[in-house]
Amino acid sequence: MCGIIGIASYKDISKEILESLKKLEYRGYDSAGISTINNGEIVENKCAGKVSDLEKLIKKTSLSGNIGIGHVRWATHGAPNQANAHPHSSEEVSVVHNGIIENSAIIKKELIDKGHIFKSQTDTEVVTHLITENLKKMNYLESVFETLKKLEGSFALGIIFKKFNNLIVGARRGSPLAVGYTDKEKYIGSDSYALNSMTKEVSYLDDGDVCVLTKDKIEFFDKNKKKIEKKIHKLANDEAVYSKGNFKDFMSKEISEQPEVIKKCINEYLDKIRKEINIVNFPVDPKKITKVNLIACGTAYHACAIGKYWFEEFTNIDVSVDVASEFRYRNNKIKTNELYIFVSQSGETADTIAALDFCKKKGAKTCAIINVTESSLSRLADLVLPIHVGPEVGVASTKAFTGQILVLLLFILKIARNRNEIKEEEYLNIIKDLENIHSKVSLILNNKKIIEDLAVDFIDIKGSIFLGRGLSYPVALEGALKFKELTYLHAEGYPAGEMKHGPLALVENGMPVIVIAPKDRFYEKTISNMQEVIARGGKILLISDHADEVATSENIWSEIRIPKIHKFLSPFLSNIPLQLLAYYVALKKGNDIDKPRNLAKSVTVE
Ligand code: F6R
Repeated sequence: MCGIIGIASYKDISKEILESLKKLEYRGYDSAGISTINNGEIVENKCAGKVSDLEKLIKKTSLSGNIGIGHVRWATHGAPNQANAHPHSSEEVSVVHNGIIENSAIIKKELIDKGHIFKSQTDTEVVTHLITENLKKMNYLESVFETLKKLEGSFALGIIFKKFNNLIVGARRGSPLAVGYTDKEKYIGSDSYALNSMTKEVSYLDDGDVCVLTKDKIEFFDKNKKKIEKKIHKLANDEAVYSKGNFKDFMSKEISEQPEVIKKCINEYLDKIRKEINIVNFPVDPKKITKVNLIACGTAYHACAIGKYWFEEFTNIDVSVDVASEFRYRNNKIKTNELYIFVSQSGETADTIAALDFCKKKGAKTCAIINVTESSLSRLADLVLPIHVGPEVGVASTKAFTGQILVLLLFILKIARNRNEIKEEEYLNIIKDLENIHSKVSLILNNKKIIEDLAVDFIDIKGSIFLGRGLSYPVALEGALKFKELTYLHAEGYPAGEMKHGPLALVENGMPVIVIAPKDRFYEKTISNMQEVIARGGKILLISDHADEVATSENIWSEIRIPKIHKFLSPFLSNIPLQLLAYYVALKKGNDIDKPRNLAKSVTVE
């Protein structure tokens, strides 16, 4: 989390740096700050709150300089207040940091013993003081390398110096850092998105790398201080997709884009004439895969949970699904004839990267399903399958989830066909419905007013439960996650059949229970579970494609009818009303839709 920007220019960079911070705000929005070199001095401006607050502060104090670093923070060590906001500066040096310094307490004690006075509760400030201490005896580059030697943990750093006032040093271990080039300016940024409006040419630091930027050039060094060259990547020209257009917020824009992104993604992967899925270069021969392991965090984990059901339906392969933060620390028996699939929107989630790294080190073959193709995960995986949904800016993942399950499904169908484990007729039926699924998503979106009206009744609830079976169980988990992260109301996703083993005790008169029950082989069972909830006073919102007067009866509070679709494709449709429900309840509560409290889009700390 946290966003870093640094600019070395021939002109005043105050405006550019603020604009970049606005773009980086999706990585953290607890506090923000900027340091520049002005008249030979380090000038630091920072405050608690959003970049708009920093902008107001800067209007009062003024900001200028040709060299500067900026930061948006997602608090790890120390409360989100002005003192803990980055940059952290001494007389000599100013530092912005993304990540965690794990041994900061020990280093801090040593530095205090040497007379250093700390102003914040952050782990980052030890970097500032260590470099300051080292600068007494060495030049700027040596002092950075010497400091890095002492640090444990993960970090990306941006550093400016009072005495070396024409340059910025960047360093990476564990947390991503990109650099950008134009003729007249050079940049560092915690991702290429922050740099996209200023340059289309970027390079990425690898772990241990250090870079030195002046307005004219960038030099790279590896962890042994040896000069190295870096590949330059060209960024796509997709500035327009970063704008909200006529939408109130990015989330409503991204929800509404889903029919289009489904069409685009299918076009990328499907040969419509031969009905073939274009995925090649499998890292493990599909016929020889003995087991598949699906690993991710949050919404991407829910996509994996849906993938497990599909793998089991269409292939004979054993499947496990894991949350990355658990997987990476378990005593996993990694095997080379198993396939490890990692799903991530950002491609920068620390736990997912660490889990992939763990598998790679044990010789396993890895595949990454990702949205941001210029990400760490995509550089590490043996096979990368992009989801092609375009930038997702809203912190709550919507279109990326749809893209993730779509690419997972295509990948699974390809493997199933390769292994001759899916009947041709079934395969063709699914492909046929997939080709048409975007129009059904549009139908649901066109009726969003129904959900907007229902949302009023959720504003004052104590909590809610989301229920489903089979493929609808992970959909229920995802619906509950979206609901809680946006509305700040408690929501629990549960397998419908498990209710009577405990959670039924939560149900009381008027408690909203959202039941996802498409007409698949679980339908009757889910409806029975629903009746058990109704009998205890639960207020049911049913999401189904099936008109069943007898089973549903007048005891249902409300129903959202979704279009009929192949029984294995229901998550593509049943998830949409859940996104809209969370959105409208949050909107009516006046919550920040694109930046829910306490969260960040890219979770680069473990
Ligand atoms: C929830 C959400 C998060 C992410 C999770 C993983 O709406 O967006 O739960 O899914 O932080 O992020 P990625 O997919 O970037 O690895």
